[in-house]
Amino acid sequence: MGPPHLMSLLLLVGVILLGADALRVPLTKRVSTSDAVQVVTHDLDEDPYGFKNLNNVRYTGLIHVSGKPFNVVIDTGSSDLWVDTKGSKLDNITDTGIAGSIRYVDETGASGNIKLADVTWGDWTVFSQAFIDAPGANASSGSVKGILGVGPPTLSNVDRKLSSSDYDGSSFLESIFTAYQDKPNCITFYLSRNTVGATDGGLFTISEVLDDFNSILDEPKLPVVSSSRWYTFMDSFLINGQYYGADTLNQQSSIEVPENKTLVLLDTGNSLARAPPFIVDHMYKVPGAFFSQKYQTYILPCDTKVNVSIVFGDSEYPINPLDLTLPYGIRSDESPMCRGTFGYTRNSTSSDVSLGDVFLRNTYSLFEFGNWTNAGDGEPYIQLLSVTDPEAAWSRFDKMNQARLDAYVSSKKNTTSSTSASSSPSRSASPSDSVKLSGALGDTDENPDVSTLVRLNYIMFGLLGLVILLLIGTIGIVSSKNRRSQGKSYKPLTLQTPEDY
Ligand SMILES: *[C@@H]1O[C@H](CO)[C@@H](O)[C@H](O)[C@H]1NC(C)=O
Ligand SMILES: *[C@@H]1O[C@H](CO)[C@@H](O)[C@H](O)[C@H]1NC(C)=O
Ligand SMILES: *[C@@H]1O[C@H](CO)[C@@H](O)[C@H](O)[C@H]1NC(C)=O
Ligand SMILES: *[C@@H]1O[C@H](CO)[C@@H](O)[C@H](O)[C@H]1NC(C)=O
Ligand SMILES: *[C@@H]1O[C@H](CO)[C@@H](O)[C@H](O)[C@H]1NC(C)=O
Ligand SMILES: *[C@@H]1O[C@H](CO)[C@@H](O)[C@H](O)[C@H]1NC(C)=O
Ligand SMILES: *[C@@H]1O[C@H](CO)[C@@H](O)[C@H](O)[C@H]1NC(C)=O
Repeated sequence: MGPPHLMSLLLLVGVILLGADALRVPLTKRVSTSDAVQVVTHDLDEDPYGFKNLNNVRYTGLIHVSGKPFNVVIDTGSSDLWVDTKGSKLDNITDTGIAGSIRYVDETGASGNIKLADVTWGDWTVFSQAFIDAPGANASSGSVKGILGVGPPTLSNVDRKLSSSDYDGSSFLESIFTAYQDKPNCITFYLSRNTVGATDGGLFTISEVLDDFNSILDEPKLPVVSSSRWYTFMDSFLINGQYYGADTLNQQSSIEVPENKTLVLLDTGNSLARAPPFIVDHMYKVPGAFFSQKYQTYILPCDTKVNVSIVFGDSEYPINPLDLTLPYGIRSDESPMCRGTFGYTRNSTSSDVSLGDVFLRNTYSLFEFGNWTNAGDGEPYIQLLSVTDPEAAWSRFDKMNQARLDAYVSSKKNTTSSTSASSSPSRSASPSDSVKLSGALGDTDENPDVSTLVRLNYIMFGLLGLVILLLIGTIGIVSSKNRRSQGKSYKPLTLQTPEDY
């Protein structure tokens, strides 16, 4: 599916918007709204952010660090920038001499000194942006060479590390919003859906709303209920016509959850989703399904077709059934194996529900930073506009699912026979990107689709050291146990969404 249209002078506090207003005039249609958000129309060819969808698993943007290009995951679940600079010689950068490190629960990480360089994304350039220079980071994968966190500024690890120095550790968006006090402090995402390979990723904007989806401004403002995460409250799940309230199960949350509400994280950096066990059971307990301890979700017949909507207040957000299941491997007879995309919430996490790309693809989403960056602005909030027509999605499922399975099986057959992996970042759609993506995430003959689901969220050592110590035992056991299954080193699902550490 694709919408008819796809797809923001002054030196000020070290930030400059390079002639953006002049550049955008032909593309910009101003409408008057109380928020004064600019509504714009982008052509895909004009997408300034180089937003790309890799295999429905990663949504990346093309940034330039000291003039050199990097494809980085755009992640609402974290707030720092790191790039794998191996093979790129960066000029004109300042080394703070302060070490930065990010670790993921799949045991990969990115570490190196925190450095300062001019970072450009779209029309925006932040001078002396702090980032972790992590050459050869094992958390980079194929054409993906880092992460740009667009979470709350207080979540920034780099900012904390630099707080006792003279360097400015502000995150990229914080710098922009602080410099442009008159512009809305919002970002928006439209995540595309595709079956195999890399395509245009849909849309990303800063301080602007897309014309095609401008009714998002009329959607309810979901309050953000934490200063360090894009957390809000949801009401219920609608599963095959039946409402299920998702009670708060976790006792560890410091956030007071009102009766009948559920704490939910909206996370673009998470390919999948998590919900309380009874919700996942209701979704996937179909004939032929069985629970996988390893993945913490159900292994399903590949034609499983489920109706699920997420309810926020009076609004229901239907999920395309294609987003509720996923091929994850092939049998020796070359038939695909499928699993659910919603897994059990782990006991250790502090939100009951985490909605990653499998949900967000069904919405146009707006994240307003409010007074997180500009004192005096209102409170942060989230708005969601449904972009999935449930009738159409339901009736097209069989055909689209078959096409997806065929493409999957064919790409898997090709994956096992071809091991070449190019490492050059490329913005063009290329069916081999799925191979590249997986290659760098593990052994080249590893099943790519399971490993590529590994969530690149990080653990902040130091601040959350206690939580990590409690979890390290579990992680070690689970991963070593699973390494040997089926002769393939699938990474266990239980390690894939460390969103709440
Ligand atoms: C280095 O950075 C400074 C300040 O941002 C800039 O004026 C200068 O042109 C840059 N030099 C090169 C070689 O990029
Ligand atoms: C990845 O690199 C980190 C250091 O940044 C190291 O501690 C970790 O063991 C490595 N993980 C793997 C899977 O190689
Ligand atoms: C919560 O849900 C229960 C069951 O539907 C209902 O009886 C109760 O009034 C609700 N509480 C609030 C505060 O809405
Ligand atoms: C999580 O907690 C529930 C209830 O206490 C328990 O039944 C379940 O086994 C726990 N799950 C894990 C993975 O520890
Ligand atoms: C943001 O605004 C709200 C409401 O005006 C206020 O309660 C809150 O303390 C403010 N937060 C910051 C960080 O200024
Ligand atoms: C699922 O939802 C679609 C669209 O609303 C509807 O046509 C279909 O009958 C529903 N199926 C089930 C099993 O609930
Ligand atoms: C798989 O490889 C064959 C032969 O090299 C090619 O024709 C086909 O298009 C490839 N399929 C995919 C999905 O890459």
